[in-house]
Amino acid sequence: MPRLLLTGANGFVGKILTQRLRDAGYHVIALSSSEPQPGHGADEHLGCDIRDAQALAQAVAQARPSHVVHLAAVSHVPTSFMDPLGTWQTNVMGSMHLLEAIRLHAPQAFVLFSSSSEVYGAAFKSGQAVDEHTLCQPLNPYAASKVAAESAFAEYFRQGIKGVIARPFNHIGAQQSPDFVTASFARQIALIEAGQQEPVLKVGNLEAARDFLDVQDVCSAYIELLKLADSDKDYPRRINIASGRSLKISQVLEQLLALSKADIQVAQDPERLRPSDIPMAVGNSTALTQSTGWQPQIPLQQTLQELLDYWRAQV
Ligand code: GDD
Repeated sequence: MPRLLLTGANGFVGKILTQRLRDAGYHVIALSSSEPQPGHGADEHLGCDIRDAQALAQAVAQARPSHVVHLAAVSHVPTSFMDPLGTWQTNVMGSMHLLEAIRLHAPQAFVLFSSSSEVYGAAFKSGQAVDEHTLCQPLNPYAASKVAAESAFAEYFRQGIKGVIARPFNHIGAQQSPDFVTASFARQIALIEAGQQEPVLKVGNLEAARDFLDVQDVCSAYIELLKLADSDKDYPRRINIASGRSLKISQVLEQLLALSKADIQVAQDPERLRPSDIPMAVGNSTALTQSTGWQPQIPLQQTLQELLDYWRAQV
């Protein structure tokens, strides 16, 4: 059975991917800095902070993985503005520690690095769906850290480590932190419906537009990309995961509000505005479809309904 080491296993995507990987036949070794939650579902758990190079090297040596999925990261753009150093320590040096540990203790492993569509930054201003040949022009410390980490991966790939860099666009679903836009809006609607928040929904920049995917579709893409480990054909080393369609945040908000009977006012909260924000993001995922056959399956409407129901159950 393939042994898969998953970093960031306790995060939003990590928890969902753990189950999906086990269903796909992997023995999952979950690595996280926090204690695993009850029922996390992995076959094994290793406690380790990826900023600790020595501990990570030991963990990789112990795990003896045939595959690695690297999700662990500071992933919240506003946090990266407040703590650029911490963001780089985790996202860049954490990736370097992992790559060194793989080079020393699991050099045959196939590594999937979860980067981000944020790397394209100012390139989105073209208004076109960006593909992997588009020049990266990051616009925030988080995006810059992902470009730096990508370049570390590219160097290890050049030296013979096998793997692929995924650039997922915005992925959403139940259990995501309300630090992110759709979870924040759905949680506030649920709180208002339950009488726990005055009927005013606080928002940031509603004019921005994003390419949204259900987290399950992104997990499906990761599982397809892992199959490239056994491929004898050449495959691209950087691959977008996108729906190919961009929606304004105001449109997503309208769709969420339409799912509620509550009478809700919308108010801009200046705290939710960013020093710089990508106005519009949309991705071309032809390379992914051609390499793996992947296509998104879950309509946004279904994702939003599930998200709102999740928050209704939580509050
Ligand atoms: N978080 C948040 N909260 N964002 C808001 C709000 C709000 O109340 N109101 C409007 N927005 C706008 C943001 O300004 C941004 O333009 C957009 O909604 C999406 O914000 P986020 O959900 O925080 O995501 P992101 O686009 O900054 O980054 C996410 O997607 C990247 C690409 O997949 C994160 O998940 C990154 O980790 C990921 O790499």
